[in-house]
Amino acid sequence: MGRPIREEDGAEEKGILFANGHIWKQHRRFSLKILRNLGLGRKSLEYQIQEEAKHLVDFFISKKGKPTNPSFPISHSVSNVISTMVFGHRFSDDDERFKELIAAVNFMFDFLPSFSRIAYDLFPRLMHLLPGPQQKAFFCMVQGHTFIKEEIRSHGKTRDPVDPQDYIDYYLDQIEKSKDDPISTFDEENLIHTVMDFFAAGTKTTSVTLLWALLYMTAYPNIQEQVQKEIQGVATPSHKFCYEDRKKLPYTNAVIHEIQRFAGGHRVCLGERLAKVELFIFFTSLLQTFKFQPPEGTKVNIEPVIGGMAIIPRPYEICAIPHEIYRGRNLLEAG
Ligand code: HEM
Repeated sequence: MGRPIREEDGAEEKGILFANGHIWKQHRRFSLKILRNLGLGRKSLEYQIQEEAKHLVDFFISKKGKPTNPSFPISHSVSNVISTMVFGHRFSDDDERFKELIAAVNFMFDFLPSFSRIAYDLFPRLMHLLPGPQQKAFFCMVQGHTFIKEEIRSHGKTRDPVDPQDYIDYYLDQIEKSKDDPISTFDEENLIHTVMDFFAAGTKTTSVTLLWALLYMTAYPNIQEQVQKEIQGVATPSHKFCYEDRKKLPYTNAVIHEIQRFAGGHRVCLGERLAKVELFIFFTSLLQTFKFQPPEGTKVNIEPVIGGMAIIPRPYEICAIPHEIYRGRNLLEAG
């Protein structure tokens, strides 16, 4: 399926998301193969997602049931899953540069369907000169590219060619292997764009779905209760969920499916399987540990923000009450 090509800077022809023809085909095929090698559909990837889910659970525990905006911690956890796949490591919650990368990716996600972006496509030279959101978009692109370039440099120094560990290792290997192939499109620029594409296509989409999932749980407490009952019926409180568990949790799985129903586009999502595994493990791990409820005296608002590439919930705060405390409080209230 073709994409509009902007000839002025050629940037959109690279990577996967905005690429066409030969570059797109080579990169899509290669990436699917490498994501499989890295554990897509295998236990190793699920282990990494379980680790991130634990970080997210720990974050909510640290909030002690106080009202919290879950947006950034969810983005951080989801971005760390992609990060482990492409860079081979995660970033801590207080890593300022990683926070900047996430903010840049989020900004680009909002910018892409905006009026400024359309104006830029029509009048690129003029929009380069004018002030406006497009200037921030250029800055975010540079920021993202610089971040990824530095990761590539450090992989170049430390990687073991016979034992690739992450997407960048595999890609650098591929550049070596295909250096005499005249039709190869594997080069550093395409690597940077492809990694950006993974972050752009794989982080906000998954985070927003999880944000909706938690919001809906507070809006429909009876559904939340059913999910929790089902989870408690099949798993101990310390059980680590894997994707296979969905077969034992048909109601929970149906709820996740229902929340996911928005997604549509011209192409087939390259990270569909990863997204499904992530959503299942994050959602079940959170609902296994907490009852989610709106802050006292507030009403749940499930009206989405209009516009943009995805249907996004309005910023909200939520209270994550660990199950033991919740049960204790109920007993106290019952006298
Ligand atoms: C709930 C989460 C997700 C949703 C709703 C979603 C949705 C989509 C949609 C609708 C498309 C087609 C876009 C179009 O053609 O206009 C797409 C493409 C894509 N997605 Fe996802 N996605 C999700 C998660 C992920 C993840 C985790 C990754 C990580 C690798 C990813 C990587 C990609 C890529 C690289 C493409 C471009 C494919 C191509 O152009 O051939 N997505 N996604």
